[in-house]
Amino acid sequence: MTVAEPHRIKSVEPLHMPTAAEREEAISRAGYNTFLLRSEEVYIDLLTDSGTSAMSDSQWSALMTGDEAYAGSSSFYRLEEAVRAVYGFQHVVPTHQGRGAEHILSQIAIKPGQYVPGNMYFTTTRAHQELAGGIFEDVIVDEAHDPQSRHPFKGDVDLGKLERLIDRVGAQNIAYVNVAVTVNMAGGQPVSMANLRATHYLCRRHGILLWCDATRCVENAYFIKEREQGYAGRTVASILHEMMAYFDGCTMSGKKDCLVNIGGFLALNDESLLRRARELVVLFEGMPTYGGLAGRDMAAMAQGIHEMVDDAYIAHRVHQVRYLGERLIAAGVPIVEPIGGHAVFVDAARFLPHLPRERFPAQALAAALYLDSGVRAMERGTVSAGRDPNTGRDRIPRLELVRLTIPRRVYTDRHLDVVAESVVGLYRHGESVRGLRMTYEPPTLRFFTARFEPAPEERHLRLCDGK
Ligand code: F0G
Repeated sequence: MTVAEPHRIKSVEPLHMPTAAEREEAISRAGYNTFLLRSEEVYIDLLTDSGTSAMSDSQWSALMTGDEAYAGSSSFYRLEEAVRAVYGFQHVVPTHQGRGAEHILSQIAIKPGQYVPGNMYFTTTRAHQELAGGIFEDVIVDEAHDPQSRHPFKGDVDLGKLERLIDRVGAQNIAYVNVAVTVNMAGGQPVSMANLRATHYLCRRHGILLWCDATRCVENAYFIKEREQGYAGRTVASILHEMMAYFDGCTMSGKKDCLVNIGGFLALNDESLLRRARELVVLFEGMPTYGGLAGRDMAAMAQGIHEMVDDAYIAHRVHQVRYLGERLIAAGVPIVEPIGGHAVFVDAARFLPHLPRERFPAQALAAALYLDSGVRAMERGTVSAGRDPNTGRDRIPRLELVRLTIPRRVYTDRHLDVVAESVVGLYRHGESVRGLRMTYEPPTLRFFTARFEPAPEERHLRLCDGK
């Protein structure tokens, strides 16, 4: 059945397709890193779904009602009401975006040397945990690392792994358990309600706090409605409420589910943690009633929080991502399955089997896609994984992916047809894509600003690898 856009378009933004020569010049100047392209050099921008959504007419009008008072802004209280109603947490500390909330949580809840288990890592989340002296430990189910596994809830926590970690290091050495819904780096994969419940009881038994990275929690709630027994007849809003009830609090990047271009928050119930969070937010972000945001940003986010749990909206959102994924599957392109909630993840390792991991196949594929059609995607593989802070060695994740991320309410299925045609065309001539060599590597979060050049000695390297 066709799922049409549950909105009509009131304002448009023209797109520009750069010529082949312009694209070649641009990607070379950008050091073969799509993060370093200028947006006007891009035709269809699938770099991220973060801060790239289209706001509704109600959100644009909410901007005008923003209260820009330095303290006690009425927009803050509107945001607080929305968080209480939709997420169910009593207190909210606004931050400029998700990583602002991650920073504060990491600083108030991690003692140096403590472990922070999580269902796979996210780049900024782990970086802030490590900055606070924490040690990230991956406790996601094994299926998450297998792009071909069809497990319906590949984001689930492996309770055995978590329990073994608790036995090994002791509950007192675990700062908190951090569960992301959905799991971005696994391919936008959801966590089941049964798993959230079991993780909650396990943590409670050991007196360990359970925190949620709720960045894409509405997409997760929709997958529960679709896939988990007993939830088909429920609203996404009520499923989300139930999910959040298992957590002590959440960090949130409002730039995703909350349908705004900037904003985030920390939400929680505990008064003493709230006090410490507010002590830090004044230092790093701003007064606790604005936390780095303008009043109008909080007003737009409060409105977005109500819109994001509209059943028709979220059904279309997830179906649009699936539309692109299914076109690629039909043409035999290797992608992560099941198709996730915010993006289609192309399996670059299988797409470009001639390239060894040292040649950054996902980075090379993202650059090749831009050259082919002006479509901008993002590497999510060896470059994103960075180096182990203790050994200094490259972390080689099993997943070597290119993410085609769909902004919310921005592109039509026709745009996605163009994307699919380009990806399929490249797949047919994959062997022509050259590997890359890194020429500049920043010390942290290297994927944002690293630079590359085409690797010259491909044949030699392949011979050495025996490939
Ligand atoms: N957690 C997850 C799961 C995320 O995907 C992101 C951001 C953050 C936290 C941090 O939030 O950007 O508001 O500071 N992800 C973006 C992306 C950058 O493109 O996936 P932020």
